Amino acid sequence: MHKEIQQLREALNRHNWLYYVEAAPEVSDYEYDAMMRRLVELEKAHPEEFDPNSPSVRVGSDLANEFHTVAHRYPMLSLGNTYSLEELTDFCDKIRKEIPEVEFVCEQKFDGTAISLTYENGRLLRAVTRGDGEKGDDVTANVRTIRSVPLVLRGEGYPDYFEMRGEVYMPHASFERLNAEREDIGEQPFANPRNAAAGTLKLQNSSIVAERGLDCFLYYMEGDNLPFSSHWENLEAARSWGFRISGQMALCHNWEEIAAYIEQTAALREELPYDIDGVVIKVNSYADRRRLGSTAKAPRWAVAYKYKAEQALTRLHSVDFQVGRTGAITPVANLQPVHLAGTTVKRASLHNAEQIALLDVRLGDMVYVEKGGEIIPKITGVELSERSVESQPFEYITHCPECGAELVRIEGEAKHYCPNSEACPPQIVGRIVHFISRKAMNIESLGEETVELLVREGLIKDIADLYLLKAEQLIPLPRLGEKSAENIIESITGSKAVPFHRVLFALGIRYVGETTAKQLAAHFGSLEALQSATMEELLETPEVGDKIAATIVGYFAEEKNRVLVQRLAEAGLQFRAEQKSSDKGNQLSGLGIVISGTFVRHSRDELKELIEQYGGKNLSSVSSKTDYLLAGENMGPAKLKKAEQLGVKIISESDFEQMISAESTEERVEEPKVAVTVDDVTSTNAGASAEQGSLF
Ligand code: IVH
Repeated sequence: MHKEIQQLREALNRHNWLYYVEAAPEVSDYEYDAMMRRLVELEKAHPEEFDPNSPSVRVGSDLANEFHTVAHRYPMLSLGNTYSLEELTDFCDKIRKEIPEVEFVCEQKFDGTAISLTYENGRLLRAVTRGDGEKGDDVTANVRTIRSVPLVLRGEGYPDYFEMRGEVYMPHASFERLNAEREDIGEQPFANPRNAAAGTLKLQNSSIVAERGLDCFLYYMEGDNLPFSSHWENLEAARSWGFRISGQMALCHNWEEIAAYIEQTAALREELPYDIDGVVIKVNSYADRRRLGSTAKAPRWAVAYKYKAEQALTRLHSVDFQVGRTGAITPVANLQPVHLAGTTVKRASLHNAEQIALLDVRLGDMVYVEKGGEIIPKITGVELSERSVESQPFEYITHCPECGAELVRIEGEAKHYCPNSEACPPQIVGRIVHFISRKAMNIESLGEETVELLVREGLIKDIADLYLLKAEQLIPLPRLGEKSAENIIESITGSKAVPFHRVLFALGIRYVGETTAKQLAAHFGSLEALQSATMEELLETPEVGDKIAATIVGYFAEEKNRVLVQRLAEAGLQFRAEQKSSDKGNQLSGLGIVISGTFVRHSRDELKELIEQYGGKNLSSVSSKTDYLLAGENMGPAKLKKAEQLGVKIISESDFEQMISAESTEERVEEPKVAVTVDDVTSTNAGASAEQGSLF
């Protein structure tokens, strides 16, 4: 083992634990990053040292995940629950009758999605979702990106093989950031952090998961040889091995102590940076647990006490309609200010026309507002007993409040849209503000107010106009002197160096967020290629489904967008991805390969990595774009059939090894052992738009 790699891995694992579990970092971010860069560099140079639990896997990978179903070795039971303190006392009394000296452990009930982590010889082997309790999805690659989940355990005394169970959740800060980003690209925001966590855990691309800021608490140990005979002691041991165990647990011996814990936790709840929906009360001793047993679904030794959602009743004064950059209309309620869960609420989301109709919300009504993990609360109901007899059903607007255009409704979507994208002021300003934003072109010296001013003054109408601006035009404008005018021009000019994937994001194509833009840029390499891509070709891009593909095709089908892009290209923006040089060789250069089944010498992830390193492309499904199907044991019959139909060459693991060990591309294995060829290869690659200009 390369000594420096080992040292760096150990040091980074330790610093990671100090930072994410202990919240007590010992080194600066700068030092940490430098160590990580060095490790990545060394791992690249020494692929034989590959380790799926290296701290470098925390950033995730762009390779498409496939979630296999895995049977749980120990079933994942659920919990009985109650909203009533009375029922809870009954639960405790019954147990105390049977076991007078019983000890309870009270814990927060984290509101996320359950996970089971299996460790073998102190290393993370697998992470599986609860699924139906008997079997779940293998989401290991995604869970490895959660910084607080230990990949390699610390200390000693852990069993050779055991499971830690817990909850993956999305902290409020990550949730707010994610939803703001989604709304920015016209994507439906997640309803709450729980849905966001569950959705994120199922993403195909673990590098996106890594950016979403998930976290995880562990609250349960399962195995045949656990070190202690009580839950509390085992969780304390788990803490010493590097697991993130909540500091908010209590050992309780009587009802008073349990009630006090519930009360304290309710008070603490508002300040927590994550959602909890109650507390869990568990019997501490395993011997006692065995005595109490379980039903088919849930243990008799634990119960969840759930908090009722916090609500406030207040008056709805009026409704504003906001127009986003994509033209989407969002109704926002103006309320009589009311105190709710530690803050004063004045505004609440009403989502869309359907929601208003469903709740039959009317102006002047007394409405219930609830707070989830989001900053802006929502209206969840109407107090009909307080409705005025004169109240009238709410009439949704038919025309844009900003430009007067008649609103449209896109089939299958809940929101209304203003179709006047060319001339509706908030849409024009919104697109430009998105274009200049930090993650897009990062034109720092311009802000929303200045953009509004420039649009109002008629100096710009679209993003391409920015590149025609001259300092002389800006100097006379209010609040802009010579200096700021020069700064603005300078940063606009500087933005011409922004890489292609960010330019693509900056264009503001609906649903094309930062990560989709990255995927598209890597997959197509240039705007020219993307612009002429067919639906089928677009669908080959990881994370791109029908909706995104259709939107992109639709975007480039519009003359005005092609002209806009052409003008940006003429201004000198980057419309080509930097060439990704393959690390090891070009033996697979340009070849599209699909992996299916399991293999003897390499894991699927390793094979995917090798394909990329040798210049090939990983494809998730067999199509006419596929050159080879790399077939292992138990491969999917559908893939095999499709490959046979299309005449795709089928190769084995050793064929593949031969291909990459060949000295040059000339030595490619042209005649693999198992080759299937069928005559009627259907070409799905109908040339799209040869007539489109090629300035790029
Ligand atoms: S213990 C056999 N402890 O609540 C008991 N569960 O409604 C296993 N949950 O599926 C669960 N916080 O996802 C336990 N401190 C905690 C928990 C907790 C949240 C979740 C868990 C479970 C669900 C049941």
